[in-house]
Amino acid sequence: MALVHVIANQKGGVGKTTLAVNLGAVTYDVLVNPEPILRAAAEAVGDPESPVMVASTDPQASSVWWSRRVERQGGLPFDFAQIDDPRDLGKLRSLHYEHIFVDTPGSLEDERILQAALDECDDVLVPMVPEPLCYDPTARTIESVIGPRGIPYRVVVNSWDPRDGVPDLKQTAQFIQRKGWPMCNTVIRRYKLHARASAEGLVVTQYPRNRVAMEAREDFFRLALEMGFGGGAAVPPKSGPSSLEEV
Ligand SMILES: Nc1ncnc2c1ncn2[C@@H]1O[C@H](COP(=O)(O)OP(=O)(O)OP(=O)(O)O)[C@@H](O)[C@H]1O
Ligand SMILES: [Mg+2]
Repeated sequence: MALVHVIANQKGGVGKTTLAVNLGAVTYDVLVNPEPILRAAAEAVGDPESPVMVASTDPQASSVWWSRRVERQGGLPFDFAQIDDPRDLGKLRSLHYEHIFVDTPGSLEDERILQAALDECDDVLVPMVPEPLCYDPTARTIESVIGPRGIPYRVVVNSWDPRDGVPDLKQTAQFIQRKGWPMCNTVIRRYKLHARASAEGLVVTQYPRNRVAMEAREDFFRLALEMGFGGGAAVPPKSGPSSLEEV
């Protein structure tokens, strides 16, 4: 049985796809033993399949374009699926992954897809950027779409630029607190590197090993740690089908 995490905000461009793929990447990195010798030992007794899947439900499919880019650059660490038929979302939980991150569309027109994703999830992560323009659309998503369902959710501030100072971040945190929404302690900082990497099709665990890249990557590890994604066995449970076709 997989835990299904939906990344949702009907405001476009707040980082849903960035969070989905990079949480997938760091969760994979933690769950799959990076030491080749230990990894080989784990595979000898179990299934070498990825414990992590990222699924895109966005009909605009920028993440599919993105995943093709990554394929050309040595591949994504996790499994990736484009889901065109919302009915397939109901099958995700029975797949033999530990965690599935579901990227959703960033527009009101595609609310049917978002609703279908929420029908079959364990929790929701709502990214928002620290800008007043983002407040109302985020409130709509939480108060009209996620909240009434009673699904656990958390808001995470993404794309905060420390060079702008704390006022925007503080104002956004106060807005979230006034609303009474649960908020992640982790803030994902804005790094040019993230925007460049998505254009090049790289996930954070594929960034170069320099100081800035390490800092940029750290935010996603922190978020995954805070959300509790790193727990569980290094080898995925063998029960259950491994693809949507088998369900
Ligand atoms: N923390 C960050 N630092 C720098 N750039 C970022 C960060 N988060 C997202 N971006 C960039 O902002 C843009 C929008 O991000 P992304 O595509 O993840 O948003 P989205 O919510 O999925 O958008 P849509 O609603 O259109 O699907 C992308 O170019 C992405 O690279
Ligand atoms: Mg997106």
